[in-house]
Amino acid sequence: MDRRHQPQNPSLNLAPEGPSPESEQGQPVSARVPEDAPAQTSLDAAPKSMEEGHREEPPRLHFDIFTLFPGMFQGPFSESIIKRAQEKGLLRIGIHNIRAYTTDKHHICDDTPYGGGGGMIMKPEPIFRAVETVLTRPPGWVLPPEDAFHHLPPWDPEQPPTLPSDVPIILLTPQGRLFTQAVAEELSRYHRIALICGRYEGVDERVRTRLATDEISIGDYVLSGGELPAMVIVDAVTRLLPGVLGYELSAHQDSHSPGMDGLLEGPQYTRPAVFRGEAVPEILRSGHHGKVARWRREQALLRTLERRPDLLEKARLTQEDLRFLAEHGWRPSRPR
Ligand code: ADE
Repeated sequence: MDRRHQPQNPSLNLAPEGPSPESEQGQPVSARVPEDAPAQTSLDAAPKSMEEGHREEPPRLHFDIFTLFPGMFQGPFSESIIKRAQEKGLLRIGIHNIRAYTTDKHHICDDTPYGGGGGMIMKPEPIFRAVETVLTRPPGWVLPPEDAFHHLPPWDPEQPPTLPSDVPIILLTPQGRLFTQAVAEELSRYHRIALICGRYEGVDERVRTRLATDEISIGDYVLSGGELPAMVIVDAVTRLLPGVLGYELSAHQDSHSPGMDGLLEGPQYTRPAVFRGEAVPEILRSGHHGKVARWRREQALLRTLERRPDLLEKARLTQEDLRFLAEHGWRPSRPR
């Protein structure tokens, strides 16, 4: 893949106040809001303060999401942990409507495939224009809604700008590498991540070869677009950021997390001690921390053996774990 990202020029200080005062057609910028102006959303207050020229503490992680359906993100990103992470200033999300970066009368983002066949393919230009415009500006920049379509910052399709080399540009596609907890951990080390949500029957191949630096699938099934996968990635990555979860250890004790050594988590209980005739295991109420820890480990081993024996081959198992599993009829296929 042609990965054309050069290290970001540190002197590149593109106007946080927005695009240049001239549109590509040389028209002066007016304050008119086009009737068809789409939502450009940043889900917190950062762009406003940036417009006003103050620099606030940058978030730990900034996502730029490129989509034809910005409205899909409003609910999921305005609740629970994602909402709190934004309120705490740890996370910021810019939602960018790809359609706002079209300049033709009908704002067309898709076209028929060369060579025939059914379905529509997302055109490259609006995607390149959106991603290159946003990523050559500081995190938090969103196209002012009144500038959509008619007053876009200048962009030359033949002159690819230098994009920051430390910002992965991830295309969501069922053909991508599988999203796992390890990939979530890997992404949680970045400070800015771009997610491109494909739609229709596909995306022009040049987006994959000349713009995306990574491709991710959230599973071996086909969704109607990359929006739900983008939400999945934002959620899984955000909960790994230090300070996001109240109880720091909990993200690392989840199933599939490194803290569980590759095992599924065992059963969990809370009050009441007896519900519908089923009592909480006595050992959990014993207050004996050592015994509780061993019981939990054995339950995790049993649950993994029952549900995902494939995971045991790669799990980090102690001699004691191996003895316990052998008593339950499991042996590693390769000696350890
Ligand atoms: N777009 C459609 N299906 C997808 C999947 N499974 N993962 C990521 N993006 C997709």
